[in-house]
This record gives sequence, structure tokens and C-alpha cells, in this order.
Amino acid sequence: MSLKTAFEPYFRMGVALSGWNLATPSHRELVKEEFSSITAENDMKPAAFLDGQANLENPARYNETPVIKPDKAVPYLEFAKQNHIPMRGHNLVWHNQTPRWFFYQNYDVEGKLADRDLMLARLDHYIHSVLDFVQTNYPGVIYAWDVVNEAVDEGDFRKSLWLETVGKDFVVRAFEIARKYAAPGVSLFYNDYETAQEWKRDFILDKILKPLMEKGLVDGMGMQSHLLMDHPRMEDYRTALCLYGALGLEVQVTELDIHNADPSAESMRRLAGRYQELFRLLTETKKEGKANITSVTFWNLLDEQSWLSGFRREQSYPLLFHGDCERKEAYYSVLEAVTGVRG
Ligand code: GLA
Repeated sequence: MSLKTAFEPYFRMGVALSGWNLATPSHRELVKEEFSSITAENDMKPAAFLDGQANLENPARYNETPVIKPDKAVPYLEFAKQNHIPMRGHNLVWHNQTPRWFFYQNYDVEGKLADRDLMLARLDHYIHSVLDFVQTNYPGVIYAWDVVNEAVDEGDFRKSLWLETVGKDFVVRAFEIARKYAAPGVSLFYNDYETAQEWKRDFILDKILKPLMEKGLVDGMGMQSHLLMDHPRMEDYRTALCLYGALGLEVQVTELDIHNADPSAESMRRLAGRYQELFRLLTETKKEGKANITSVTFWNLLDEQSWLSGFRREQSYPLLFHGDCERKEAYYSVLEAVTGVRG
């Protein structure tokens, strides 16, 4: 039994990958065996897709029409295509991992910020170029895009260079553009973290998803789900999941991990327990028709490559596999959540 087979009646099981995984035969094999969706951890973000050299060398020519360079994205798209594993596209619009020069007139960070019209022209051209590239060369490979990532913070639209240059409606504009160029059948997602937190959940529901739905621009809600051992409470996660689901949108868990800095057997057993509780909740919610969960993606394959160790400034052991692709107790407990059988 593998993760993808066990969960096939419910949703795709996905994993975020780095270049290291793609270059390591045992990692590629594990991905093919266990997963039915992949995401590029970093290599399809604006910082990876935008061609810094071309744009900065010739700003007069590319001021409104930023050039992309798909070299970093190609290995993921090739792997996905060759192995018939669909991909989540991550992401088109984000305040982070987007070069600062992208927000300035003539891409000159010493000069003035670009104005709204210029940024909207760049946004249109960028999204058009990325979607055209993948849809022409890899038709059908990407089934969902995170169109906008993390636009909400501190009780409002996040203060970011997107907000400053375009204004609050940069979210709607980005979805309009994505809808214009996305191939039929590609789902457009809003993606964020701490999506079970009450104020943030309600802000996303009322100020982001509902307005986008009125215009037919959004297909899904991405709950990143970088969880802690004791936060959020499962009841709060369930409430949020059901509220997003009640809108009739798809819901995807897009970046799942559970920070845990204690590798002892006892602590890894507790991690396994929390994962099992979560996967019971996800499959029940789907079965009961309360949220149309269509994929669940782990944020990386192995403990050793998790971003959490850097972010939390302590070694983290948050995932299902480690070392030389060994399965942890959490792997078996996730399978058990749906099969009722351990291992
Ligand atoms: C956010 C982003 C991801 C990733 C993580 C940290 O959740 O959406 O792409 O950068 O932060 O790895």
C-alpha cells in the first residue's frame, strides 16, 4: 500500500520537491511510489521564473514586458510529465521571493516605485508568459495554481510592495489575469498560512474568497498548514476547513508539516498521532461532503530538507520520511488513518 493508493478515493497525496530530490535516484523512486502530485518548493516562484539578467540589462525594452527564463522550472515539469504525476503551480503573485527590482520603474531600485498601470502591465505579461510556457510545452501537467500567496496579515491586506504599487485590488486583478490565460480545467487558488485562525479565516472568507467568487475567478482555497504539535487545535482546523468548504470551492492542504524538535521515539509517536488525527479529519470531512478536499501536499520529502530547521532555528523532525528515504512512524500512522491497518 502506498500513500497515493490509500488516499486515492479521497484526494491526491502530494509533496514539495527541490532540485536535490530530482537529482537523487532514490528520492525520485520514492516520489513515484508514494505520491500523486508534486510542487516545486522554490523553483517556480517569481524569483526563479523572472530573468534578472535580461530585464536588468535592457530595462527600456522590457519595462512593461518582463522576460521569463524557465530553466529552473523545466526539470520539475519534465519529471512530472515523464512520470504522469500532476503538479501544483506555486506561485504567481507573492510579496516574498519576488525580486525588489520588479517593483521599480525601469527595474531600478535606486529610482521610483513603479505606478499602478506599469505594475498591472507587468503582472499581465508575467502571468501570461508563465502560463503560456507551461501550457504550450507541458499541456495538462499543472492542475492548480496558487495565483496569490499570503496577501493577508495583521488584520488586513498585508503591507507589501504589491499593495503599495497597485492597491488592494491587486488580488482581484491577479485572478482576472490568471483566469484570462489559464487553460480550461486548471484550478485557481488563493493560498495562505494560519488559515484556521479566526480573524484571518474570516478576513479571507469575506474580503478575498467571496469577492473573487462573485466574479467567478477563484476555484480553491489553499490551507498551507505549517502546523505545530499543539497549534492549531483540531476543532479550529475543522471549523475553518468546513467554512472554506461550505463556499463550494475546492480545498487543498498545500504545505503540510508539523514542527517537532524532539526526535525521541516518544515524541515521534506523538507526531504520528497528530498526523493520524489530521488525516482522519480530512478524510471524514471529504466523505461527509463538508469540504471538497482535492489534494494534500507535504512540504518536502525528508526531515533533513525541511525549511523548518532554518525558520525555527532548531533542528526539526516534521515529516513522514527521513535519512535514506526511511519511513517514520508518522508514515504508518497516516496510512492507518484510512486503511485501519498499521503498515
Ligand atoms: C511559505 C511559502 C512556501 C515556502 C514556505 C517556507 O509557506 O508559501 O513557498 O516558501 O513559506 O518554505
